[in-house]
Amino acid sequence: MTPVIQINPAHPEAQLIEQAGAIIRDGGLVAFPTETVYGLGADAMNEQAVARIFVAKGRPADNPLIVHVSHRRMLDQVAEGISEQAEALIERYWPGPLTLVLKRRPEVAASVSAGLPTVAVRMPNNAVALALIRAARTAIAAPSANRSGRPSPTTAAHVLADLDGRIEMILDGGATNIGIESTVLDVTSRVPMILRPGWVTEAQIAAITGAVARAASSEALQRSPGTRYRHYSPRARVVLVEHGSPAPLEAICKEHLKSATVGFIGHTPLAITNANFQAMILQADAAAYAGNIYAALREMDERGATVIIIEGISDAGAGAAVMDRLRRAASEIIGA
Ligand code: TXA
Ligand code: MG
Repeated sequence: MTPVIQINPAHPEAQLIEQAGAIIRDGGLVAFPTETVYGLGADAMNEQAVARIFVAKGRPADNPLIVHVSHRRMLDQVAEGISEQAEALIERYWPGPLTLVLKRRPEVAASVSAGLPTVAVRMPNNAVALALIRAARTAIAAPSANRSGRPSPTTAAHVLADLDGRIEMILDGGATNIGIESTVLDVTSRVPMILRPGWVTEAQIAAITGAVARAASSEALQRSPGTRYRHYSPRARVVLVEHGSPAPLEAICKEHLKSATVGFIGHTPLAITNANFQAMILQADAAAYAGNIYAALREMDERGATVIIIEGISDAGAGAAVMDRLRRAASEIIGA
């Protein structure tokens, strides 16, 4: 029911982008690729349009959205009081996977911020996303384009599986590059605070700002409501085995095989032959995990796994963001 429009990811066709931009201007919903995951976009200044995002996703109204801009000047339409420190981060990381929480301007639809006095903003590093925002001539509010609680979409097919018939258009610009969501950084106080780890790491931020705080979980829960909800979950039950855990992977899989169809996602090949066992082996680095993990979770669901066992990686660098998502997706964590 929802049209999926193939678009050239490097040189998006102007006519297609114009059509999509018109839908946004008219208060409709368009899913589009970014460099991280697909977003579900609406005019950030239109209260009714933004309300439709929450309905389409089944998203709790107290979980605010990220606003996407196509150039630095557009930021001044949605946020104010931008510090020198924030400017330095923008200079270095925009366009890119760094979302800044700033003081919100009153013109932004209140539901975007879920009642908070702040607004989260980023400039995506993706030609289709940037062209769409320009064509819409407005900032675009866009959460990840999945049904609430499901793994974020990294392809147009994932978006269609979750949102068919609920939105006006899907722009298909191929698989996203990074595969996990942006870093969310609160820059409203002097020492910035990471509310959600992402592809831009703590060390990269600290190199520009000096000190950087990491939200202790209870405070993060207050300041970034989205981190409170169950997230990124396939239908199967997810068991995460932390990196460095002494628990033997093969034994864990075999134990579950007594009562479940097991999907294993990890970097260690296992010598298990069982009709109810399937494995997806990734490289043991953050880039490979980020790029494949959401697709792998959906794929294991489709292949009929009832339990998905995931081998974790190190928390170093962007590994922290990957492991944050996996810990949220897991029903059970076997510790290090
Ligand atoms: O990479 C990304 O960030 C993707 C692409 C589409 O840009 N978007 C994304 O949106 O991941 P979403 O809605 O799935 O996650 C937004 C996160 C949530 O954890 C939310 O609570 C937080 O950002 N957030 C949004 N506005 C906020 C605010 N004003 N203060 C604190 N946290 C905020
Ligand atoms: Mg999301």
